Amino acid sequence: MIKPAAYQNMYAGKILDMILSNGFRIAAIKVLNLTSAQAAKFYEVHKERPFYNDLVKSMTSGTILAAILEKENAVEDYRTLIGATNPANAAEGTIRKYFGESVEKNAVHGSDSDENAIIEASFFFAELDRV
Ligand code: CMP
Repeated sequence: MIKPAAYQNMYAGKILDMILSNGFRIAAIKVLNLTSAQAAKFYEVHKERPFYNDLVKSMTSGTILAAILEKENAVEDYRTLIGATNPANAAEGTIRKYFGESVEKNAVHGSDSDENAIIEASFFFAELDRV
């Protein structure tokens, strides 16, 4: 997912270029505006965390881009490509280092396991949306 601030700042093209040139295949893609209820559901695992309400607000502040990415070892390799959650701690050359502004406006989201990738993919896409 490309988050609202990064999308608003016109970083989507550069971020997708990094994703594609690192060997990921885009199996589905769309832009959309999340409602509060949708953002709250997507990040439900964090609902007890102190940052949850701000996170939901931030994710509904503008358009996002959602995509399903495929690659051998995709979850781990994508997490390496995006860098640490807090852009201040992200390694040089990572997406969050280049395009993240803060822990909340950290440019992109990535699934943290194969299991969650399947859940998150089906949150955004129907089987027919995939190639
Ligand atoms: P993301 O990978 O989308 O998963 C949850 C998001 O919560 C995370 O990126 C951050 O943007 C946001 N967040 C805000 N504050 C924190 C925090 N203290 N720790 C972890 N994630 C946070």
